[in-house]
Amino acid sequence: MNMAEPVTRILAIETSCDETAAAVVESGTRILSNIIASQTDLHAQYGGVFPEIASRKHIEVIHAVVAQAMGQAYLGYDDLDCIAVTKGPGLVGSLLVGVNVAKGLALARNKPLLGVNHIEGHIYSVWLTEAAPEITFPVLTLVVSGGHTELYLMRDHLDYEHLGGTIDDAAGEAFDKVGRLLDLPYPGGPAIDSAAREGRPTAFNFPRALMDSVYDFSFSGLKTAVLREVERYDAGRPPVADLAASFQAAVVDVLVEKAARAAEEYGVTAVHVVGGVSANSALREAMHERIPLPVRFPPPVLSTDNAAMIAAAAHHHFLRGARSGLDLEVSPSLQLR
Ligand code: KG4
Ligand code: ZN
Repeated sequence: MNMAEPVTRILAIETSCDETAAAVVESGTRILSNIIASQTDLHAQYGGVFPEIASRKHIEVIHAVVAQAMGQAYLGYDDLDCIAVTKGPGLVGSLLVGVNVAKGLALARNKPLLGVNHIEGHIYSVWLTEAAPEITFPVLTLVVSGGHTELYLMRDHLDYEHLGGTIDDAAGEAFDKVGRLLDLPYPGGPAIDSAAREGRPTAFNFPRALMDSVYDFSFSGLKTAVLREVERYDAGRPPVADLAASFQAAVVDVLVEKAARAAEEYGVTAVHVVGGVSANSALREAMHERIPLPVRFPPPVLSTDNAAMIAAAAHHHFLRGARSGLDLEVSPSLQLR
């Protein structure tokens, strides 16, 4: 953080998918509290997020989560500069819960309200790490989550050049779908990550799509290739560990190769990898191995959805004078371009 910048204290709320989260962050870098109530166990029985159940669960726990975030930060509402909330992208019913609670608090406590793009939140998760003081632009950020696979060149704060993204499934979506194919528990990402530790990444030669095209990604052919292999074992159990390791290796190869190429082409000072899939251990290892620059990841707890990252992004918008009105609407298909 630039020392001349004023200190901010921001309460953020995040309910875009299946985590109910609230956090208080100081000056976009210092976490004072970070509460995450996960619904994963609730949705696991359906093998994916059940939107109607997600929004109902958010309503049940959001007030307790916010109260806990304020309590752990040892702050009162008077100490806050702003209330930030994820406005999209995400599930409409889930987003509505967070946005309405944030509006109610902003109105009742007479605080400015700020709607934040969830993808931007993921990007700012790296500023919540010890590396924050070392970050200098330009930076290449790879966002790999359940809904997104995007490469951005950042020349400054809040300045995003979209270099490419997925043309079909997101990386996390591919992990989740392949997890289901392999009969692994939901969510597929962490389950494949651990199953792959027992398998051989070279056991199956799965496709690395669009390797020669510039910065776009495609993972749906890979998912189909895994399905074809699984179908060959209709009588017996497929070699899950080898399939998981080989699938994961294909995803990792593509992500690492494209990030390495973009880092070189744009002469960045560092590569940041954020979003749920950035928790993947093979991806972390391969990025460090292949890229001769600092490669920064948020700690796993800040890789997946949380509200601290929303507060971190909000800090920069707040300092630039951005405010949302009480008529703030949710944007389920919001993009960052
Ligand atoms: O960022 P996130 O929590 O939510 C979205 O914004 O989508 O990302 C969730 C995604 C899920 O697809 C999940 O399977 C994946 O991140 N994920 C992982 C790992 N941990 C979570 N994928 C691969 N390896 C992991 N260790
Ligand atoms: Zn996310």
